[in-house]
Amino acid sequence: MHKWGQHHTGPIVGIITTGKSKNRSGSGNIERLFKELISCGRPKNIFTYYFYPRGINWKHRVIKGYSHDGRKWCSGIYPFPDIVYNRILYRNIEGSTEIKNILKKFQQDKDIHLFNSRFLEKWEVHKVISNNKDTAHLVPDTELLTRETLGYMLKRHQEVLLKPRHSSRGQGIIKIIKFPGGHYAFSRAEWKTPRWIKAASFNSLVRHLEVSRVFNKNYLIQECIELTRHNGRIFDLRSQFQKNGEGKWVLTGVGVRIAGKNRFVTHIPNGGSLASYDDIIPLFNDLTADESQSFDRQLKTIGLFIPKLLEESLQINLAVLSMDIGIDPRGKMLILEINSKPARFDEPHIRQRHHINLVDYFLYLTGKKYKRNDKQ
Ligand SMILES: Nc1ncnc2c1ncn2[C@@H]1O[C@H](COP(=O)(O)OP(=O)(O)O)[C@@H](O)[C@H]1O
Ligand SMILES: [Mg+2]
Repeated sequence: MHKWGQHHTGPIVGIITTGKSKNRSGSGNIERLFKELISCGRPKNIFTYYFYPRGINWKHRVIKGYSHDGRKWCSGIYPFPDIVYNRILYRNIEGSTEIKNILKKFQQDKDIHLFNSRFLEKWEVHKVISNNKDTAHLVPDTELLTRETLGYMLKRHQEVLLKPRHSSRGQGIIKIIKFPGGHYAFSRAEWKTPRWIKAASFNSLVRHLEVSRVFNKNYLIQECIELTRHNGRIFDLRSQFQKNGEGKWVLTGVGVRIAGKNRFVTHIPNGGSLASYDDIIPLFNDLTADESQSFDRQLKTIGLFIPKLLEESLQINLAVLSMDIGIDPRGKMLILEINSKPARFDEPHIRQRHHINLVDYFLYLTGKKYKRNDKQ
C-alpha cells in the first residue's frame, strides 16, 4: 500500500485514462504529463493519481492507481477521488458502453466532481456557436456534407474543406478548389507530398469523393479561410483556455503552428512547425483596424463567450479546452476547431501555466471540504 495516498488529508484527484485499447497502458508522453501535474499539486497538499477503468472497485470505493512520489512511480490502492479528470484519449474507447457507464457513475456521484466529461464533436460545436447571435460571426460557413451542400457550398466559396466530424491531427481532411469553367481539384491533408487530383466536372468530383465515403453524414463541409501566411506558409493559433482558482475561464496560453510548405493543415505530424505568438503575431498587427480589433482583444472575446456557451448548451463540465484559431486576410480571428482533450502543449511555459491553473481549479472545487487543512 502506498502510504501517502492512504493517510492523505487534502484533496484527492484521480485521472482516468486508457491506452489505445481498454487494457493497455498509456504512452510515455502522457505519463510525463501526469507526473508534472502530480508534482505541481503536491506542495498544495493535493494527492493525484492516475488509473485505468479496470482498477476501479465500486463496492469498496477504492481504486488501484499510479502516482509519483517525486522520485519514482508507485502503485497503490487509493481512496475514491474528490475529482475525476477524464483523460481518455481515444474516441472509440470513450464511446464504448463500459466506459460510458463508468463516466456516468462518476458524474452521478455527488461526492465526485467529474470534468472534461467527454470528447466534443465538430458539428455539435459548430451548431452551438453559429446558433448564437453574439458568436455566429466567429466560425466559418459550415454545413453537414451531402451532395447538395457540396453543390451550393462550392457556389458560395472558391475553396472548401471536408472534415470528418470526429477527426484529429488532420486525418481525413480533404481540400477542394474550384476553377473557372467548372473544373475542380482536391487533395488530402495526410498526403506527405502534396498533390492535386483533377475533376473535370461536378459529377466527376462527386464520383471521386464517393470512393472516400464522405457522404455518410460523418463529414462537414466548411468554407476554407485564406489563412495568413508567414514566409509563404499558412499558420494558425493553438490556444488553450482553462478554469482558474475562482472557477472562471482564462486564457492559458497561445502558440503558433506554421504549416509545412504547400500544406493546408498546420499540425506538426503533417510537416508543421511551432513558433511563438509574441514573435509572429505583431508582424500582422496592421491587418487589424484599431485597438478594439486587436488580436489580444479578439482572443479575449472568444474566451469570454465560447467556453461558457459550450458548457451551457451541451450540458457538460469542462475545465480545459483548446481552440484552433485562424486569421483571415482582414485580421479577423475565426475558430476552426475546439477540443476538450487537448494534446500536451510543446511550449513549456504554456504547459506550466496549464498545471498551475488545474491545481488552482482543484483547490477551488474542493475548497469547502478541506477548509481545515488550508494551512498545510
Ligand atoms: N475553415 C478552414 N479554413 C482554412 N484552414 C482550415 C480551416 N479549418 C481547418 N483548417 C486547417 O486545418 C487544420 C485542421 O483542422 P481542424 O478542424 O483543426 O481538424 P483536426 O481535428 O484534424 O485538427 C487546422 O489546424 C487548420 O490549419
Ligand atoms: Mg485541430
